[in-house]
Amino acid sequence: MMTITEWENHSVVLSKSFGGVGLVKHFAVIGDPIAHSLSPVMHNAGYKALNLAADYQKFQVSPEDLGEAVLGLKALGFSGWNVTVPHKETILPFLDELTEEAVRAGAVNTVKVDKGRLIGHNTDGSGFVRSLQEHMELDERQQIVILGAGGAAKGIAMALAPFQAQLCIMNRTPERGAELVGKVLEWGGQAHQEEWGRGAWLAQADCVIQTTSIGLKKEEYPFSLEGIRPGTLVVDIIFNPWETPFLHSAKAMGCKTVNGIDMLLYQGVNAWEFWLEDKAPLESMRKALYQALAV
Ligand code: ATR
Repeated sequence: MMTITEWENHSVVLSKSFGGVGLVKHFAVIGDPIAHSLSPVMHNAGYKALNLAADYQKFQVSPEDLGEAVLGLKALGFSGWNVTVPHKETILPFLDELTEEAVRAGAVNTVKVDKGRLIGHNTDGSGFVRSLQEHMELDERQQIVILGAGGAAKGIAMALAPFQAQLCIMNRTPERGAELVGKVLEWGGQAHQEEWGRGAWLAQADCVIQTTSIGLKKEEYPFSLEGIRPGTLVVDIIFNPWETPFLHSAKAMGCKTVNGIDMLLYQGVNAWEFWLEDKAPLESMRKALYQALAV
């Protein structure tokens, strides 16, 4: 409990960063389901670290209520919000403008309210790139294998395209793989498709990114990584389970393994920086996220 005086002092301190007393910026994430989202933990820890008068909430929004929810958030004065499954594509018609990243991904995970206009942006791809750059350089010399060609793979491939790395797409359904290759080429990137399964690609890869939903169900990956070079960077975009059977077997082959937690972190950091046009407190956000997962 706070006394009135404590509360008044608290609100004055908190209000410093955004000018007028009591002026608080509101942010949120909308999705369905949303209960397990870690975004509030990460962003609120960041506001606390910088003593910013801001808050971040999560709202469950069903697909049929999306349009009303967008209008509601705007009317309530939210400064911005994140968008997660299943709204990343269906929110597009409710927005006024899209950034180049959003157009390239064909999906929005971040909305900013700018002078009453709703700007759709995408930080999933750029967040993934930042997390990857903690472990490797990205340029045209790299051979990067992407397993899967769904929504997540598309976001990643389109964000990697400008780096000119050689993208090798492999998907169970080759038609979807071919479609993704076409999109990467259309945007000036380098990509080709290989047959889903073991092959020469294993020995040539500098980095393998697992984007399919197989590990979510804790299922075994359908083919072995035998033949991969030890030291290859192997990424699974899932972080629950923390180590998928795919990453486990990659580790057993001597590969360097990375899960998807930093992708979540950096998409949040990039959203923060898009909203507030200032550097996010990366380490405070990382610490809060890791603590919430008790790792
Ligand atoms: P997301 O947005 O998470 O990427 P998605 O768009 O439904 O979800 O895509 C799921 C991806 O996982 C696809 O690449 C899918 O392959 P198909 O295009 O052949 O469906 C892949 N996937 C899911 N379950 C799979 C399985 N058991 N074996 C191989 N690939 C699987």
